[in-house]
Amino acid sequence: MRRTEGTLEVTGLTAGYGETRIVEGLSFAVPAGGRMALLGRNGMGKTTTLATLVGQTTRHAGSIRLDGVELSGLNSSARAAAGLGYVPQTRDIFRSLTVEENLVTGLKGRPRSALEEAYALFPRLKERRGNGGGALSGGEQQMLSVARALLGRPTVLLLDEPLEGLAPVICDQLMQALAQLTVTLILVEQQVDRALDFAQSAVILERGQVVHEGAAADLRDDHALMERHLGVALAV
Ligand SMILES: Nc1ncnc2c1ncn2[C@@H]1O[C@H](COP(=O)(O)OP(=O)(O)OP(=O)(O)O)[C@@H](O)[C@H]1O
Ligand SMILES: [Mg+2]
Repeated sequence: MRRTEGTLEVTGLTAGYGETRIVEGLSFAVPAGGRMALLGRNGMGKTTTLATLVGQTTRHAGSIRLDGVELSGLNSSARAAAGLGYVPQTRDIFRSLTVEENLVTGLKGRPRSALEEAYALFPRLKERRGNGGGALSGGEQQMLSVARALLGRPTVLLLDEPLEGLAPVICDQLMQALAQLTVTLILVEQQVDRALDFAQSAVILERGQVVHEGAAADLRDDHALMERHLGVALAV
């Protein structure tokens, strides 16, 4: 089924923290239901880009349009209501609440029965529903963070390094679950090979600017480009 919601268009976006500009003149677009990998070495502005999309930085210029609606004048909660879901690099779960209580905070007024959507996507969370958030493994915490964001029914989901610190088998499980989603996705990831297998398009940031944008498959084949901008050489 082709999605009709969740077209994201970013144009000339310049933002940072107070007067300090970190990202400069960013432009990229993701079609409804598309998946974009946002890549770059440490400190290049990936997190700042996602934080800017959700309204958590100082924006100096540029436009963020979701299905033609300008978001840049809205605060974070209005952007969430407009359809932006965000799973930050820090995995924002409540450690003192149980898994289920964490999920309830993501319901945004939806009936409790909607929790079954989260449990269907991540059966492990159902098994652990009564456990405290702080007692979960890293992989379970990440599943919880993703599931909670999805319960708000975003049309665009922003994921900041979801695989960070997870064992390879857990990375596989998480990526398989993400592959089932039909929302528009922006995936920030240091595991470049996994990100490029998952996404259709890729953007590379260097010192806060877009230095490459194109099809994920083309980038995967361009080892020189990856070596230059990401410092990685993938296994062929
Ligand atoms: N709250 C902040 N205040 C000031 N500068 C910040 C803040 N957060 C990040 N920066 C700076 O912005 C730049 C980009 O950081 P950002 O976290 O966006 O990079 P990143 O690409 O996500 O890196 P990583 O791969 O390490 O997560 C860095 O120079 C960083 O020091
Ligand atoms: Mg980051």
